[in-house]
Amino acid sequence: MKHSSCLLGIIGDPIGHSLSPAMQNAALSRLKIGASYRAFAVAPRDLAAFLKKDVAGLNLKGLNVTIPHKEAVLKYCKKISPEARAIGAINTLVVSPKGLVGYNTDAAGYLRSLTEDTGFRPSGKTVLVLGAGGAARAVLYALARAGADPIFISNRTPARARSLARYFRKIFPKTFFQAVSQDKASFTTLFSGVDLVVNTTSVGMKGKGGFRLPLALLPKTAVVSDLVYRPLMTTLLKAARRRKLRIHTGLGMLLHQGALSFKLWTGKMPDRRVMHRALLDALRKKA
Ligand code: ATR
Repeated sequence: MKHSSCLLGIIGDPIGHSLSPAMQNAALSRLKIGASYRAFAVAPRDLAAFLKKDVAGLNLKGLNVTIPHKEAVLKYCKKISPEARAIGAINTLVVSPKGLVGYNTDAAGYLRSLTEDTGFRPSGKTVLVLGAGGAARAVLYALARAGADPIFISNRTPARARSLARYFRKIFPKTFFQAVSQDKASFTTLFSGVDLVVNTTSVGMKGKGGFRLPLALLPKTAVVSDLVYRPLMTTLLKAARRRKLRIHTGLGMLLHQGALSFKLWTGKMPDRRVMHRALLDALRKKA
């Protein structure tokens, strides 16, 4: 990427809440890269025009992609990374002379942050993923790639969990994937053998609701991970902390997926401490 006054950004709808501009601009200025990063509100009906015309018109070199466009951008890409294809979602676009190249840094970002923040190594571990949406797909991919086995998926709508388990069995034929229902009896049987519980749903966001999980049954070494970062300490994480379990907040995934996107655009690894500080500041301001 030629850095002289070029533009990076994020597309989504809505996008005003995004913490990515603060985090990415802090990383760009720390490395004295003459680029800036902006948020673009792009409605679904404007996505095609934005990617086909505005990307070139604005001289955009790279984009993050967020809700609701992560799946929709697949069809506008000239090339797609194997991760993004398997996950079925793109969160990073690189603008190349031949067209858009799609990547997914959510999966690798999740894994890096989990390992860095908690020391958890997924290989051979039993994991339970709550949720069956786009975020669940990235987390499931990351954990299966890192050797977690068996992997249980539990979702409010059980059919979506079953279909996700079927899908991932095809991609990782050696890994045991199983959908489990969210009733008390199933969780009670399962929890004493679970090493990692991950909430990939929006439950707990902005303090709304919270899962009632039998955390007391988890092994003492278990990790509880929550992708929600507003608030940072969700009801689930607070309950896990009361049980003295290791916890993993959602900010780490946001930070590390952003750092990996930055590397794809600039070829350089950003200063993650600077990004982390910018994220915490922005969270405070936008709270
Ligand atoms: P994302 O791309 O952020 O994962 P998504 O694809 O809309 O978003 O998926 C949202 C996930 O959160 C789903 O697993 C959803 O459960 P359903 O499949 O039953 O809809 C889950 N979810 C959202 N609100 C929930 C709630 N109040 N209770 C339990 N699960 C919820």
